[in-house]
Amino acid sequence: MSIKTKITCIGAGYVGGPTMAVIADKCEDVRVTVVDINQARIDAWNGDALPIFEPGLDEVVARARGRNLFFSTDIAGAIKDADIVFVSVNTPTKTFGHGAGKASDLQYWEKTARQILEVCDEGKIIVEKSTLPVRTAAAMERILNSNDKGLHFEVLSNPEFLAEGTAIRDLFAPDRVLIGSHQTESGLAACEKLVEVYAHWVPRENILTTNLWSSELTKLTANAFLAQRISSINSISALCERTGADVDEVAHVVGRDSRIGAKFLKASIGFGGSCFKKDILNLSYLCEYYGLPEVAAYWESVVKINEWQTHRMVSTMLERMFNTIAGKRIAVLGFAFKANTGDTRESPANLVVRDLLNERALPVVTDPKAIPDAKRDLADVLDRVVFEEDVYKACEGAHAVVVCTEWKCFAELDWKKIHAGMEKPAFVFDGRNILDAAALAKIGFEVACIGKGKAD
Ligand code: UDX
Ligand code: UDX
Repeated sequence: MSIKTKITCIGAGYVGGPTMAVIADKCEDVRVTVVDINQARIDAWNGDALPIFEPGLDEVVARARGRNLFFSTDIAGAIKDADIVFVSVNTPTKTFGHGAGKASDLQYWEKTARQILEVCDEGKIIVEKSTLPVRTAAAMERILNSNDKGLHFEVLSNPEFLAEGTAIRDLFAPDRVLIGSHQTESGLAACEKLVEVYAHWVPRENILTTNLWSSELTKLTANAFLAQRISSINSISALCERTGADVDEVAHVVGRDSRIGAKFLKASIGFGGSCFKKDILNLSYLCEYYGLPEVAAYWESVVKINEWQTHRMVSTMLERMFNTIAGKRIAVLGFAFKANTGDTRESPANLVVRDLLNERALPVVTDPKAIPDAKRDLADVLDRVVFEEDVYKACEGAHAVVVCTEWKCFAELDWKKIHAGMEKPAFVFDGRNILDAAALAKIGFEVACIGKGKAD
């Protein structure tokens, strides 16, 4: 099939990689090149072991790679050759200067804009895929369009809503695709060009178009709303524990109200991931910047409750385990921020391990996919943490097991065998409510779940 459109994506990460692979898979007349400054990452995309674990991704890449999907470190060449350039570089929270701890660090992003300008000798459509503070597109446009080559760049915002672990499913059948553009003739024309790409497989009625600023703000708002639901149910989980209510029952019935809906009401040890915290802090910073301190505080509280919820885990352990866990081996089941990913960014497990270390306990971390990233995240305390691939070995000799990630395989373990190898009384703290608590209690475990009080 002849190529009609050439797309280049800068940034071969969790977002850029899967998104581009699916575009290439679904659009045989689009040639997609994904570039990155990280040679090792590009080599991995070109090899047999892809750099990220994502169910279904291998098959998609196998179908498209070498046909109309390419991975390269020739950033300049790929930009020059493209009709549409996606920017999907990371935008971490700033760690220095103004807005430290809240605002986005846009240095990679601005560097990318300048590089685009440097190598182009014709105007192009630039698509913001990274989550960015509202009105960043304006800054991008200023950099790109203040050129002395007489070139015009049209900037679009096309936020990504995929969730890790279900990225391929989310990309194949998205609830919606959002494209923001200037409502000018050239802005709308650029928007239509991108709509045509997605329309290869997404029904047109699911492709929503808005103005640029609405699109940018929508991404932050969507993530803030999702995270807010988790913080809301987690705050109620604490009340359930004190009153004898069961948070899963409460959530189930609350979610049956069609105005509320059932999703994102699963009480947990706290949310993690690269987006929620960063995006909410970003939203909060924006509100402060625009003179809305009350709104800023409202959203920041979603993050504060989340941290509080995660810290509650080790407090509960202390309460149950006779107020001391010093010197006790504690098996930490799961380090990924959610199941079906090896990603550990902002994972609650990291905080739990550090709380355990503060109490001088001996954490033993196990995870089916995330041990490499866990080792990186815990680099400063490696001498005090044990990593164990085999979950049974991790539990051997432990006083307690704490489940931090909802991997299905943890629910399917031989808990009798685990109990036999543990110190007694043997405790299980289920931070994800995935285990059969009644069955564990029958085996002889002391079980504590999130949001489950002692019913009488
Ligand atoms: C994405 C989004 O881009 C981010 O805005 C969102 O909030 C989280 O998800 P993600 O794909 O998860 O980021 O980030 P990451 O996996 O770190 O990938 C970014 C890639 O960009 C890295 O491979 C990095 O090497 C690359 N990069 C970064 C460049 O190629 N050039 C740069 O200048 C900076
Ligand atoms: C999120 C958004 O869902 C996605 O649309 C956006 O593009 C990026 O951020 P992601 O972070 O990959 O995706 O995963 P998500 O499934 O949203 O889970 C985030 C965290 O919330 C995980 O730690 C998860 O375990 C937790 N969670 C989720 C709960 O604790 N309870 C729930 O009910 C749902």
